[in-house]
Amino acid sequence: MMKQQILCVVGARPNFMKIAPVMAALQHSETLTPFLVHTGQHYDTAMKHAFFDQLGIPEPDIDLGVGSGSHAVQTADIMSRFETVLDDEKPALVLVVGDVNSTIACALVATKKEIPVVHVESGLRSYDRKMPEEINRVLTDQISDLLFTTERDAESNLLREGIDAVRIHFVGNVMIDTLQAQLEKKISAAETFRNVAANVVFQPGDYGLLTLHRPSNVDDPSVLKSLLAVLAEISEQLPLVFPVHPRTRAKIQEAGLAGFFDPQRVLVLPPQSYLEMLGLMSEARMVLTDSGGIQEETTSLGVPCITLRENTERPITVDQGTNTIVGTDPVRIRTVFDEIMLNGGKAGRVPELWDGKAAQRIVAVLEDWLAATIPSQPGA
Ligand code: UD1
Repeated sequence: MMKQQILCVVGARPNFMKIAPVMAALQHSETLTPFLVHTGQHYDTAMKHAFFDQLGIPEPDIDLGVGSGSHAVQTADIMSRFETVLDDEKPALVLVVGDVNSTIACALVATKKEIPVVHVESGLRSYDRKMPEEINRVLTDQISDLLFTTERDAESNLLREGIDAVRIHFVGNVMIDTLQAQLEKKISAAETFRNVAANVVFQPGDYGLLTLHRPSNVDDPSVLKSLLAVLAEISEQLPLVFPVHPRTRAKIQEAGLAGFFDPQRVLVLPPQSYLEMLGLMSEARMVLTDSGGIQEETTSLGVPCITLRENTERPITVDQGTNTIVGTDPVRIRTVFDEIMLNGGKAGRVPELWDGKAAQRIVAVLEDWLAATIPSQPGA
């Protein structure tokens, strides 16, 4: 029997760890076979290649090479280039992950061509429409045929938006599949310090890991400056390791804030790839971040996380995990930081079905769904 083709889309860094276990599970399927399209939304070696190698993701079958641009330009470029791929490949399904521009762009093209769309990590809502990702989430979920969720709140969000319950499947968290599969291969913080020839070396368990890249935190120079000021203060008590996203690096330069931190107290690094981040996260005393994924990874690792945002689309990391949402108010950031220094922060527990088997569950649902909805071709 001919296997049915599942066209998987990735575009930006947070997609890579989500697609890796799905690709692996599809490669083991007896009825389905993956085809990987990379949109090229992220293209730097540090933002792409290292992840493919470390996570064992096969080379994309096609790279659309779109690169950076305004939201409209980037989304439109992905759409027009992706349409050609669908015309050539005619996959049985298009599978998208997460909430980046590549996610909505490819979902929209597929659904208008009447190719069923599968959304992995659906139903997350920050209820903050100023976040581009929130728009991407809401719209992708509305046009998806099958919606896979990571936590039970996500299903309630989808039902409120009128999505039929039969399309929703609670399967767990594919990003945690990757974390569990890779944890023993993590690169220790000490090794990362050696590899970057750092002239300051912090002790495992005695540094904070910092990441910042949300437009709401880095695009406005006054917000960025106030954040960096409180982080500089914090670094006097607990040294910080700060891998800098390209967007943030550019904004720091533009705002004239390069050299803001004391290099003895803040180790500024280029973007780190997956196994380095896993080492840096798991050995940190705490993590300070505005990332979505890191809120979940720290919950899974049991490391305290301070989220420098006003809201989260991943409330389970607060209700059950180690995450505290603090926003950008310096006083609030200091208070929660001091609490964690004093008592180690919330204990937290690992959420339901974050067990390393989400991708297997997804592929099982896809196999059944395709067998039931798309009659096999005569002679196939
Ligand atoms: C994107 C996602 C965001 C995700 C983040 C993780 C959207 C709307 N946003 O944001 O949800 O959390 O990725 O990284 O899809 N750049 C490079 N090299 C690269 C990629 C980007 O230098 O390989 C620079 C460019 O200056 C670019 C800027 O980073 O303009 C922003 O990149 P873009 O992909 O537009 O958004 P991110 O901020 O990375």
